[in-house]
Amino acid sequence: MRLYVIFIFLSCNINNPSLWPNKYMVQYLKLFFFCFFCVLFIACTQKKKQNQTDFMAEGKLIFEQSGCAICHSLNGETMYGPALNSILGKSIHVLRDSIQHSITVDEDYIYRAIKDPDFEKNEAYLSKKMPLPILTDKQIEILSTYIIQLNKH
Ligand code: HEC
Repeated sequence: MRLYVIFIFLSCNINNPSLWPNKYMVQYLKLFFFCFFCVLFIACTQKKKQNQTDFMAEGKLIFEQSGCAICHSLNGETMYGPALNSILGKSIHVLRDSIQHSITVDEDYIYRAIKDPDFEKNEAYLSKKMPLPILTDKQIEILSTYIIQLNKH
């Protein structure tokens, strides 16, 4: 708010022709641009923080409403399916078209595992089945970003 006041004060002075040429003009202009970019920077970071929080809140909601929490914990506890808070970077074996592959769980794997659970099957859970979730691509993206962020913290 204080920055806005300085900003208005400065723009008034700059627009006043009686002050031209003023030896403080350059300083005023520097200060004006400095304040302008400060305000812009603060506004942008606030908006980004807000977006990230919204994203996490939305991911949590979809996770709970889509029934993921019935089979997956987010605290390391193995339920029907694997816990999803510590999978990123793990080396696992999966079956794809009946062929075994050793992979490292990355962001794409997490997305794929939600979008098409039958495409690759985690060998440690061969006898268990994950149902195909009825979600839009956007919801899957939000969900996988939510899980990835939880893994990073
Ligand atoms: C009926 C239980 C069940 C439900 C509901 C379920 N899953 Fe799964 N999920 C599993 C099982 C079992 C596996 C491991 C077997 C496999 O890879 O298919 C798995 C695997 C995964 C994996 C890969 C983890 C790894 O280490 O291989 C992710 C990511 C995942 N599920 C996310 C989700 C999300 C997000 C939802 C909600 C939309 C969900 N699951 C709903 C049972 C379930």
